[in-house]
Amino acid sequence: MNERPRHIAFIMDGNGRWAEQLGLPRIEGHRRGAETVRMVSETCTEWGIEALTLYCLSSENWKRPESEVQFLMQLLQEYLVGERQIIMDQGMRLTVIGRRDRLPAEVIAEMEETERLSAANPGTQLILAIDYGGRGEIVEATRQLARRVGNGELEPEAIDETTFANTLYTRAIPDPDLLIRTGGEHRVSNFLLWQISYAELWFTPKYWPEFSREDLEQAVADFARRSRRYGGLTSR
Ligand code: IPE
Ligand code: IPE
Ligand code: MG
Repeated sequence: MNERPRHIAFIMDGNGRWAEQLGLPRIEGHRRGAETVRMVSETCTEWGIEALTLYCLSSENWKRPESEVQFLMQLLQEYLVGERQIIMDQGMRLTVIGRRDRLPAEVIAEMEETERLSAANPGTQLILAIDYGGRGEIVEATRQLARRVGNGELEPEAIDETTFANTLYTRAIPDPDLLIRTGGEHRVSNFLLWQISYAELWFTPKYWPEFSREDLEQAVADFARRSRRYGGLTSR
């Protein structure tokens, strides 16, 4: 039996389809999805989970119609302001990973304010992946390391997995133990490519707005029964 996961990551998928099946506009799905975010962060806090990562916007999601992207930005901003007190009351620490050069200034300002206010909180670390792409993250880390080699600060031979991991957005965050994807797709969609090497994957056909506390309990119970071998053999 495994302990509870230290870090759970979520690909929150299926908002649009949830809305469409009810004849509602896709954005209603995103709105309802924010309620599932609240349930998940409360539950992880209650369970004492160390870190929780939520995939909010991928670097590829800019391909969507401008009206949907705009709504997502507005929702993000509302969430960052509206949830601030809840984040503080629950003692959560907010970290945002992803590119910061393409987001509206108002979104950046709100996220940095909540990051600053919550920086010393002792509870669950809430990591929001916004304009995040795993390949982009790896390329950016490579660029940074190449610069340091170019400056003569770093020997190429000194680069190992630890150096590399410490150059990613997720430095100082333990790798996810459990990756949950809702919405029925069985793919990773450019999420945390480096970090999920040994994560246990858990999929459900349920759309994100209908993902419940019972589903989360089920995922964690299944995780507990998995045998994690990391390439070795189980001692049994
Ligand atoms: C996930 O739901 C949320 C984001 C990608 C922002 P989708 O919007 O991808 O919903 P589906 O997959 O189209 O149903
Ligand atoms: C992944 O969902 C991104 C987020 C949940 C933020 P997508 O809906 O963008 O993934 P694909 O396009 O189905 O692979
Ligand atoms: Mg989707």
